[in-house]
Amino acid sequence: MSNLTLRRLRQDRHVRALTREVSLSLEQMIQPCFVAEGVSSPEAVPGLTGVYQETPDSLLRRTESDLRAGVSKFLLFGVPRARAERHVDWSFTAGQIRALKERFGKDIWLAADVCLCSSTPHGHCGVLNAEGDHLDNAASVNELVAAARAYADAGADCVAPSDMMDGRIAAIRAALDQHGHERTVLMSYAVKFQSALYGPFRVAADSTPKADLLRDRGSYQLDPARPGDAWLCAERDAAEGADILMVKPGLPYLDLLRELSREIRKPWAVYHVSGEFAALEALAAQNLAPRAALHREILTAFRRAGASIIITYGARHAREWLNAS
Ligand code: PBG
Ligand code: ZN
Repeated sequence: MSNLTLRRLRQDRHVRALTREVSLSLEQMIQPCFVAEGVSSPEAVPGLTGVYQETPDSLLRRTESDLRAGVSKFLLFGVPRARAERHVDWSFTAGQIRALKERFGKDIWLAADVCLCSSTPHGHCGVLNAEGDHLDNAASVNELVAAARAYADAGADCVAPSDMMDGRIAAIRAALDQHGHERTVLMSYAVKFQSALYGPFRVAADSTPKADLLRDRGSYQLDPARPGDAWLCAERDAAEGADILMVKPGLPYLDLLRELSREIRKPWAVYHVSGEFAALEALAAQNLAPRAALHREILTAFRRAGASIIITYGARHAREWLNAS
C-alpha cells in the first residue's frame, strides 16, 4: 500500500470540493433584525458588525440592501416604546411586519420572534406572578398567543416563540389554526439554554431582566448541565406541533444539535447567538483570525452537526464570506 492514501483526496481544490459532504448556502441562513419605536436614526449594536437597532424606515432600507446581498429570510425583533405587565400592545411590531410584507411580499420570508422580554417593564420573557418571584405560565402563554396572532394577522410567514414557557407551542398552533393561519410556520426555540452569550442581543432588544426577586432566566431557560431536559423540550415541542426546532446558542451545544437532529426528524435550526458572533468578530478585528474563513469554519460546524437552518447576524455578509478565498 502506498503511503499517499488519505491525502490523495486533499491534494487540490477540485478534488476537495468534489468530496465535501456538507455545504454552506445563503438560502439556509436567516438574518435577525431589530426595529425600535421612537429611535430617530439607526443605532449600531455593540459587537455585532453591520447590525442596528433600526427605525421603521431604516428597516425597509436595510431589507432592500439585504435582498441585494442575497439574503431573503429574516427574523424580526420588535422593540416597542411602551411596556406593560399584561395585555401587551403588539401593534408596533405587527405594523413593521405589515410594512415589510406590503413592500417586499413573497420576495422575503419573514419570521417574527414572539416573546415578552422587550415589552415588559421587568425584562422577563413572561408575566410575573403576584409575589414577583416566578413567571405565571398560563398568563404568559395567553400573552404569547395574542402576539403570535397579531403577527400572523400582519402577514408573518413564521412565528418563533423564544420565551420557554410550557405549553405555548400547542396553544399558539391551536389559535393560529382557529383564526385562518393554518399556513403560518411555527419555529420553536425548543432547546434554549440559560447562557452568558446573550449580551449584545439584550442591548439591541432592550430586554435585560431586572425584577427584584427574579434576577435571571434560570427558572425558564435550560440549565447547561442538564442535557436530558433538552430532549424533553424537543420531544414535547415536536409533539405539540412545532414545524421547526431550534438549538440555541450554537457552538457550546453542538453535541445536542448533533444527537437531536439525528433522532428527531424535524428540520433543525441553530441560533449562532450575539455573544458567539461578537467573539468571532472581535478576534477578526484584532487581526488574530481571517474573518471570512473564521465564519465559514463555524457555519460549517453547524451544518455538519445537522442544522438545516442557521440563524446568524452574519447572513448579510455571508455571500462575501462564502466567496472569499
Ligand atoms: C429572549 C431571547 C434571547 C435571545 C433572543 N431572544 C435570549 C435572552 O435574552 O435570554 C438571544 C439572541 C442572541 O443573543 O443573539 N427571548
Ligand atoms: Zn424573551
